[in-house]
Amino acid sequence: MRNKIKLGIIVFAVLIFVIQFVPVERDNPEFNAAGEIQATVDVKTILKSSCYDCHSNETVWPLYSYIAPVSWLVANDVKEGRRELNFSEWNTYEQKKKNKKAEEIKEEILEGKMPMPIYTYIHQDAKLTDLQKSILIDWFSSINLNAAAE
Ligand code: HEC
Repeated sequence: MRNKIKLGIIVFAVLIFVIQFVPVERDNPEFNAAGEIQATVDVKTILKSSCYDCHSNETVWPLYSYIAPVSWLVANDVKEGRRELNFSEWNTYEQKKKNKKAEEIKEEILEGKMPMPIYTYIHQDAKLTDLQKSILIDWFSSINLNAAAE
């Protein structure tokens, strides 16, 4: 029985060791100021602290993003997050797309779905306060109003 447990631990350790060699995409595309979202300092600060790790090209990759299998989850969230919404490329979006994304952003914030709870569990400071929520919602509503006036 003891030997079986020992063997199990060794197999597990070897497995964890081996999966570390699976390549993980952990790159940040080159910074391009032209694509960057133009928002008020308040809005920018909140986005940077609560959304940028998954929705920008300026991801700060934490230590745990280097350890498989957690690294696979993190890399996947960043990949999917950037595809859905990338504040480093926001300025290149057509107005129609900006409006659509602004609506989605407001919805996700109101429903408390973003930033992802699994993320705020570790990054407590990324949790949005009520004030931060209303600052974001006001700003993303205002860009839609501007669009309607155009
Ligand atoms: C830990 C990574 C992470 C963080 C931090 C994060 N997101 Fe996301 N977000 C994702 C992923 C992954 C998706 C795509 C899958 C999904 O919709 O759940 C997504 C999708 C979205 C979408 C599209 C939802 C839809 O309708 O499909 C919006 C809008 C969004 N996020 C807004 C935000 C905002 C605003 C913040 C900051 C306040 C934020 N996210 C923070 C990972 C993140």
